[in-house]
Amino acid sequence: MIHNKLKPFPDNFLWGAASAAYQIEGAWDVDGKSPSIWDEFVRIPGKTFKGTNGDIAVDHYHRWKEDVQLMADMGLKAYRFSVSWPRVIKDGNGEINEKGLEFYDNLVDELVKNNIEPIVTLYHWDLPQALQEQYGGWESRQVIDDFYRYSTTLFKRLGDRVKYWVSLNEQNIFISLGYQKAAHPPGVTDMKRMYQANHHASLANAKVIADFHDYVPEGKIGPSFAYGPAYSYSSHPEDVLAAQNAEEMQSHWWMDVYAWGKYPQAIWDYLEDNGLAPDLEEGDMELLAKGKPDFMGVNYYKTTTYERNPLVGGTGEGEMNTSGKKGTTQESGIPGLFKTKKNPNLEATNWDWEIDPVGLRVGLRRITDRYGLPILISENGLGEYDKLEENDVVKDDYRIDYLKGHLQECQKAITDGVDLMGYCVWSFTDLLSWLNGYQKRYGFVYVNRDEESEKDLRRIKKKSFDWYKETIETNGEKLNG
Ligand code: BG6
Repeated sequence: MIHNKLKPFPDNFLWGAASAAYQIEGAWDVDGKSPSIWDEFVRIPGKTFKGTNGDIAVDHYHRWKEDVQLMADMGLKAYRFSVSWPRVIKDGNGEINEKGLEFYDNLVDELVKNNIEPIVTLYHWDLPQALQEQYGGWESRQVIDDFYRYSTTLFKRLGDRVKYWVSLNEQNIFISLGYQKAAHPPGVTDMKRMYQANHHASLANAKVIADFHDYVPEGKIGPSFAYGPAYSYSSHPEDVLAAQNAEEMQSHWWMDVYAWGKYPQAIWDYLEDNGLAPDLEEGDMELLAKGKPDFMGVNYYKTTTYERNPLVGGTGEGEMNTSGKKGTTQESGIPGLFKTKKNPNLEATNWDWEIDPVGLRVGLRRITDRYGLPILISENGLGEYDKLEENDVVKDDYRIDYLKGHLQECQKAITDGVDLMGYCVWSFTDLLSWLNGYQKRYGFVYVNRDEESEKDLRRIKKKSFDWYKETIETNGEKLNG
């Protein structure tokens, strides 16, 4: 659809940026914080790039005022950050750690003081290690009540100032990397356990969302889903069907549950036939149906292209590129369902993530058609090598091109009728990329550290910082000009 004239970004558009506790805070054992599953996992040799961890990360726990000041300098309208569960509740279900809560309380106050709308993520992957040890974390139904207590503690404490909340960040990613690929904690490769743990996470998500408005009546809550729209490699009907299998299994499996409280039928039947479907208990589906979100949070980085994959001799799991060596990602798939193919129409980053701004519009349109929910882009950004030049200059024109391209498509999507609430760039400062160390940078603000040394952790505005500042100031008016 080519429009003659584009609608403007709404006046109250949330021009934002995002982060996650483990990736920025550091202070992993400070002020009463208990360990998270990531604090343990990163110490297993070979799990992360060059053995990097978030012990210090970019030291946001101690430099948060300076970081908020930079946000204010930029004129940022919204800042999405996550709360570390083991920082605020000892061992996940023990005593409330007042010191931990105080940290987020102060951060929220500082943001509000600077006219920056806080968007709080309840869970960005740092489950308390104690819960993993007590009952296997997401594999036990006990996590549902513990997550509820933790979440409502935050609603009560921060809900007077925080209107926007994200429940689970990328449930599809932390569950599949945690229980299928063993690339995230708890490092399991068992599909049956994966679907069961996932079901519990969905129930926890729904329970919190169902009661949210009792605690924050004027608030809005939704999950952040990692959505990579599926493309068919060719017009061969079997490839089209393979892409549909992928869309249903890798996206609808979660988003249908969020929006409708239902699992997609074809995938449910497939999992049942293969002995992988989660065990349901009485009341589960009713609870899922009650947890209807106010918006769909979307983390968009790329599309994925699929083709048919034979049942016998088909392609299985392939290696991800976590080294930054272009072209090292392997094809990956499920025999009988689909396998990935490099899209010949798209350029890719050094980590082989295909750059596809139009794919964002495709995704926004698909979500709008299917669920009719408002959408918050809770993450979008470019992970690349950045070079710190003399006089503290970082010329990240490639990042500006990337963001500009994606925002242009957002404006087209708004004109298409998508109810887009905001756009949070991943990320505000550079931070720890879970598996890729510190060399894969996303921020508007360069942080002077690398895998080998914390150096001085100095904050340096990149060229993209000024570009985004101007984009915000002009409410995106010049993007398509
Ligand atoms: C999302 C996560 O998956 O993508 C972030 O919510 C993450 O936490 C981001 O950092 C980019 O991924 P990566 O692997 O490049 O750090």
